[in-house]
Amino acid sequence: MTQAKIQRPSGMHDVLPEDQKYFQKIFDVVKEIADFYNFQKIDTPILEKTELFSRGIGLATDIVQKEMFSFKTKGGDYLTLRPEGTAPVARAYIEHGMQNLPQPVKLWYFGPFFRYEKPQAGRYRQFWQFGFEVLGEENPVIDAQIIQIFFNILKELKLENLVIKVNSIGDRACRPYYKKLLNSYFKSRLESLCRDCRRRFKENPFRILDCKVEKCQTIASQAPLIIDHLCQACHEHFKEVLEFLDELSFPYHLEPHLVRGLDYYTRTVFEIFEDSEEGKKLGALVGGGRYDGLIKILGGKETPAVGGAGGVERIVSLMKEKAIRFPREKKTEIFLAQLGFLAKRKSLKLIEEFRKEGINIFESLGRDSLKAQLKLADKLGAKYTLILGQKEALDNEIILRDMASGRQEKIKIDKIIETIKKKIKKP
Ligand code: HAM
Repeated sequence: MTQAKIQRPSGMHDVLPEDQKYFQKIFDVVKEIADFYNFQKIDTPILEKTELFSRGIGLATDIVQKEMFSFKTKGGDYLTLRPEGTAPVARAYIEHGMQNLPQPVKLWYFGPFFRYEKPQAGRYRQFWQFGFEVLGEENPVIDAQIIQIFFNILKELKLENLVIKVNSIGDRACRPYYKKLLNSYFKSRLESLCRDCRRRFKENPFRILDCKVEKCQTIASQAPLIIDHLCQACHEHFKEVLEFLDELSFPYHLEPHLVRGLDYYTRTVFEIFEDSEEGKKLGALVGGGRYDGLIKILGGKETPAVGGAGGVERIVSLMKEKAIRFPREKKTEIFLAQLGFLAKRKSLKLIEEFRKEGINIFESLGRDSLKAQLKLADKLGAKYTLILGQKEALDNEIILRDMASGRQEKIKIDKIIETIKKKIKKP
């Protein structure tokens, strides 16, 4: 009886060899920009205490209510596969006393995240994010610089027609009054809201504003706007963020309905989209904002902070759709063909010597037919094939075949690297 095939978990993907170049390109661009702006890399564990997210992201959010992969360990701890990177970075900042370092502390990361979401275009259960976080700085110029960093990364990846949506959602000084306004607005419309929103009304009416259900969206679209009720300090802060964005001539839109799905945000929030059919299907490529209250909520000192994160798979989708090209990878100049046990043994050593000299060499050590190996060398476009047969292996020689002319010469094995270097002009 044949065994049933085991498939990958729903919403999770293999990053296949043909897609690695996109991931690598994104990583390289992110790293180059991180280095330029003096961000340092941080890796936090894939698993964290569940409480980090319930406290950090907020109990009433969809992420905490519905989307976390959580479990109890054999030792009785409650752990969660990280659904995002900001709370873990804030936890690490507190845990390692980074508040005692010169401020701000600028960190970046690149890794897999997990959310139990309904799989669909641009929405996976395991996805990759790159993130930038600036901790310990309140100045609005940093909000603009974070937006600039993400915008530059997307531009550098050749994405066009980018749209930045920004809003300010106030802070603890202006929120309580705004919450009261929201409460009275939604109270009279409770019956028309979805079940989740009726719960959200009790827990945090703010969350109704980013409900995805159409009838709730229609009602939310008429709700009072936080932007009209910012306190003086938040108003000034946001005004300056926009002035900096103007200075950079960025294509931003004020989006008064943008509230983001995580509770830790204060003041500036932003998202970046690509304005095309595909871009609309995928949703935001980047999301972020200021989170001045988070570090205190997690047990640290009052610390202003701002950051954002980009979704790698969504960006890869767009890069593929636009057929963004990459420089050709490793060139196949040399192929090593071998015959017989002794030749295989010598080949292993010879390949190692080529590696140490930094010369790429292709082979097919498992094959025994010379004809098949030469055919492969030809297919790969090798300029030279080295042939190590049984006789050559015994005589410590190797045949060098010029693939274009078919000309062959015998060379002592200990001279082959030198000869090849001259042929391919490697110093
Ligand atoms: P987020 O908006 O939840 O923010 O996620 C950031 C980006 O990750 C999204 O814009 C999207 O591109 C990608 N993303 C999110 N969920 C999925 C998914 N299920 N499948 C594929 N891609 C996804 C955060 O995570 C915040 N921690 C960002 C931040 C950093 N705010 C301040 N600092």
